[in-house]
Amino acid sequence: MGGPGISGAAVPGPAPRRAGSRTRWRLVVAFAAVLQALGSAVALQLSALRGMDAILDAMHEHERHVLGVLELGEALRERQARAARLARGEPDQDAGYRASHDRAAELLLALEQAPPSPAAAPLLRRVRQDAAELDRHFREEVLPAAQRGEHRGASASLATRGALAARTGDDLDGVLRQLQVTISDSRRELDRIHDRTAGWTQGLLAALPFLVAGAALYLWRSIARPLARLSEGAARVAAGDLSARIAMESADEFGHLAAEFNAMTAALGQHQERLVASEKLAGIGRLAAGVAHEINNPLQVMLGYLSLHRDHPDRTLVAQLAAVEDEALRCKAIVDDLLELSRPVASSEPVDLRLLCDEVVERLRAPRWSQGTALSVEGAGVAVGDPPRVRQVVHNLVKNAMEAAGPQGGVRVRVGRCADGVEVAVGDTGPGVAPEARAQLFEPFFTTKAGGTGMGLAVSRAIARAHGGDVDLAGEEGCSTVFRLWLPAPERRA
Ligand SMILES: Nc1ncnc2c1ncn2[C@@H]1O[C@H](COP(=O)(O)OP(=O)(O)OP(=O)(O)O)[C@@H](O)[C@H]1O
Ligand SMILES: [Mg+2]
Repeated sequence: MGGPGISGAAVPGPAPRRAGSRTRWRLVVAFAAVLQALGSAVALQLSALRGMDAILDAMHEHERHVLGVLELGEALRERQARAARLARGEPDQDAGYRASHDRAAELLLALEQAPPSPAAAPLLRRVRQDAAELDRHFREEVLPAAQRGEHRGASASLATRGALAARTGDDLDGVLRQLQVTISDSRRELDRIHDRTAGWTQGLLAALPFLVAGAALYLWRSIARPLARLSEGAARVAAGDLSARIAMESADEFGHLAAEFNAMTAALGQHQERLVASEKLAGIGRLAAGVAHEINNPLQVMLGYLSLHRDHPDRTLVAQLAAVEDEALRCKAIVDDLLELSRPVASSEPVDLRLLCDEVVERLRAPRWSQGTALSVEGAGVAVGDPPRVRQVVHNLVKNAMEAAGPQGGVRVRVGRCADGVEVAVGDTGPGVAPEARAQLFEPFFTTKAGGTGMGLAVSRAIARAHGGDVDLAGEEGCSTVFRLWLPAPERRA
């Protein structure tokens, strides 16, 4: 949405046919962007929490394993201590030996069923084999010697397996070291996830003000600014400036509204112009009505006296009096035309436009009017109005066309329906209307002809408008200039 805001010139392109609901989508997009950023931050946190939960669970499992390994080492040391005391001649240690042996077997089984790591499995397997060998050696060699009272020999035999017992301790330490490494790795992973999540969250929260500012700017540009332009335009119209136009060519509701606004002010401007023009004509008509009364009576007297001298023997005097009569008649015609400008429609009845045009053309074919211009009428149509006055309009238009076309040219009258009524289009093969004359064509007394009064088109338009229609210069069709009388269709007037 760019370009200047309000202008005084005619502006807009064609109004968008369907504005859609872009403003709604703009609001949705702006809020969705902000929500998306917040949602991403929350989702990030949740996923990090899930990852940290999994790592913490694994660390608890490792700690359980550590406890298991420590307890196993403790049970195996207890068993060896009981075995040593049995060898030294303390027979009541047998139950203690068995209890610590069973406890060690139970812990070892649990660890082997769920080894802390793949690398720990072979160490645990060797611990089980060494423990079994130590037990076997104790039962088969140390215990029988002790029971026979050979305590020294029993203790010496037990000492031969010292290295095996030490290796079991080393293997368990190895498992513990592996577990410590795994736990340290998990701690590091935990820290990494924490740092990463904190970084992302801080970044998103830092970007949020910019995102919100961006969304606000976007909404301001696409909603608030166009609204301000519209309200500025409305204020100018309210202040009486009907030339105000809003330059906004976006295809959204605001573009649509601006186009409607421009069309409205253009229509208001046209109505105002028409009103001023008709007021002007009505003023002329009121003035003419007063003047006509004062002029028509002397004119009638003059014409009456002039007619008495048509048969005078002095032919020169007759010719001069005929010229005076012509001028008097011309004055009378001007007064009548001026009266016509503000005269309301007296009667309203169906008018067969084709018949009317045929009659007008027939009349204008008379030598008094025509020097040989080719005239033709085509089409058909019925309007409602005051027949003599509609005839006067067609007469004026065809007469102008004949004068423009000249003896060698042609005039074509077309009767037919148009968008909102019926029309009579009068085209001629003349030179066309000079561009500088276009703006004044319908003004009273505007003429480019030596003997013209310049009232023909002004009167024609006044009569057409009194009927609810109009007369305008419809354009140049090929090599033809076309003036158009438009009248509302009978059903529309009804
Ligand atoms: N068909 C046409 N082609 C070119 N110019 C035209 C045509 N019709 C009218 N005009 C122009 O419009 C002017 C005004 O026409 P209008 O009928 O009001 O007065 P006029 O023809 O000059 O005088 P009058 O009607 O009294 O003979 C004309 O002088 C002429 O310049
Ligand atoms: Mg004329």
